[in-house]
Amino acid sequence: MCGIVGYVGEKQAQDVVIEGLRRLEYRGYDSAGIALIDAGTVSWQKRAGKLANLEKAIVDEPLVASTTGIGHTRWATHGAPNDVNAHPHLGRSGRLALVHNGILENFVELRTELENAGHELSSETDTEVAAHLLERELAAGVDLTTAMQRVCCRLEGAFTLVALDGEDPSRVVAARRNSPLVVGIGEGENFLGSDVSAFIEHTREAMELGQDQVVTITREAVAVTGFDGSPAEGRRYHVNWDLSAAEKDGHDWFMRKEIYEQPRAVADSLLGRRDAAGQLQLDEMRLSDQDLRDIDKIIIIACGTSFYAGMVAKYAIEHWTRIPVEVELASEFRYRDPILTSSTLVVAISQSGETADTLQAIRHARQQRSRVLAICNTNGSTIPRESDAVIYTHAGPEIGVASTKGFLTQLVACYLLALYLAQVKGTRFGDEITEIMDQLESMPAHIQGVLDDDEAMYALAREHVDARSVLFLGRHAGYPVALEGALKLKELAYLHAEGFAAGELKHGPIALVEDRLPVLCVVPPQGRDQLRDKMLSGIQEVRARGARTICLVEEGDETIAPYADVLVRLPKVPVLLQPLVAVVPLQLFACELATALGHDVDQPRNLAKSVTVE
Ligand code: F6R
Repeated sequence: MCGIVGYVGEKQAQDVVIEGLRRLEYRGYDSAGIALIDAGTVSWQKRAGKLANLEKAIVDEPLVASTTGIGHTRWATHGAPNDVNAHPHLGRSGRLALVHNGILENFVELRTELENAGHELSSETDTEVAAHLLERELAAGVDLTTAMQRVCCRLEGAFTLVALDGEDPSRVVAARRNSPLVVGIGEGENFLGSDVSAFIEHTREAMELGQDQVVTITREAVAVTGFDGSPAEGRRYHVNWDLSAAEKDGHDWFMRKEIYEQPRAVADSLLGRRDAAGQLQLDEMRLSDQDLRDIDKIIIIACGTSFYAGMVAKYAIEHWTRIPVEVELASEFRYRDPILTSSTLVVAISQSGETADTLQAIRHARQQRSRVLAICNTNGSTIPRESDAVIYTHAGPEIGVASTKGFLTQLVACYLLALYLAQVKGTRFGDEITEIMDQLESMPAHIQGVLDDDEAMYALAREHVDARSVLFLGRHAGYPVALEGALKLKELAYLHAEGFAAGELKHGPIALVEDRLPVLCVVPPQGRDQLRDKMLSGIQEVRARGARTICLVEEGDETIAPYADVLVRLPKVPVLLQPLVAVVPLQLFACELATALGHDVDQPRNLAKSVTVE
């Protein structure tokens, strides 16, 4: 949600900023803008719509040559996505330019104060208020760093602010509270970005900032302070992926590339988790074995696809450890007065590590003295930083808005957590844990097997371009897979799609079934015959009412064939691990159907990759 770029160095800032914005496009946006410093004032352009509109505007009215600049892609919150509301926003005299991600909650009050003092504000945004406040401080004679510190002390809400002062081309100043911002450290140049992809082609050295901090970048230095001006330090880290990971590698969509990266992403997320004696080890667990033994309840909080990973985690953790687990949507969690104690472990699952709903939920949990463990794919992001422990997934950057490899690697981390808890609590013993780890380590090959059969799934997707509605059914660990399959189709193909627990069908949703309705059914593996037989009843029920049944079934299971219009074969794996293979055909289906419908798969309408507002 909103992309931010800042640059000070020797290169042409326009090129660096536009390229940075392009790499942040995946976050979702509806307008874009840029500001460069021009001898005492600011040269800028902004346009509603895609980056191409901004680039065209720059061709029509070129900006100055400059080595200091900022840029922004906006995902509208206050005010429609039009040229006026796009960022940057300027102060009264045009000396200052500001871009902003987040929401300033006290902007109405600040706007009234400014208007009473004779300021005229031209946009409907909360951001413009901060631009006027900053410029008022500059006019009082302080530098941009001090101005930023003073203004931030007056702001409420969540924000990343990045500003430049036309009278001081040596610096760009930024601040953050509850909103993402990272620094890229180069040689003779420094960068700011909403995430590292904004500058990954220039440097892999990064710095994460804490809460309520201001950072000033110049060519040679990066200086961090608190809002009160006290000196502070950021945490430096090396980004372990490079530009090639942020490119499409011959695929039409990032999402498609990321689907095919899943065998590697799963393998990388399993790497190094066993010590020489075969014991499970989690590097950044940071909770002692005694802390873990004391846990009497686990609450998993997450949003969207990550929430579905949490649903699978519940089945695995309860089965392997006998610890009760609740799974809760992060956006609902803190508003219902949840029962939390110091022996509750809260597990926050977030690919981006920046989702505002999840972040606020973990803060609430920590205020109630519960421990928080994050499962996250993004080093340097806020959620792991504010958690007591973390399990990093190693999916690499996920650029497609729809999560794919992020989901599979979250599942891996959930299995690892469940097994680790079982090891510490002694509810499962060495041989059993070893056997499950061996099965997990065989999953990349199984996932590859499913991908090798991609054409069949693609052909099936193309047959459904005229579908108006699609249902997904599953039971046990197949139920979250059904929900995830439906979510992928909704967000990419803009189709009505619903996932149901197959047993619930007869309690209402079966009324939706009509002739030729496609129903994708995730069938539990053999060996779980009771479960599979119940699933079979669900399949028969919809088929009897005219549905077209597309059944995802384990190889060698012939019992379903008579009731399936289409069979999609899955490798033989245990029921708890089946989501790792069963979701893959559903991803391929959604990606191909959306492509056939002519949609932008990587940037579906209205969606943002990283949802940094509640
Ligand atoms: C769907 C999707 C979203 C995210 C959700 C949480 O494909 O990607 O539903 O899963 O917005 O995001 P994270 O995991 O970054 O907290």
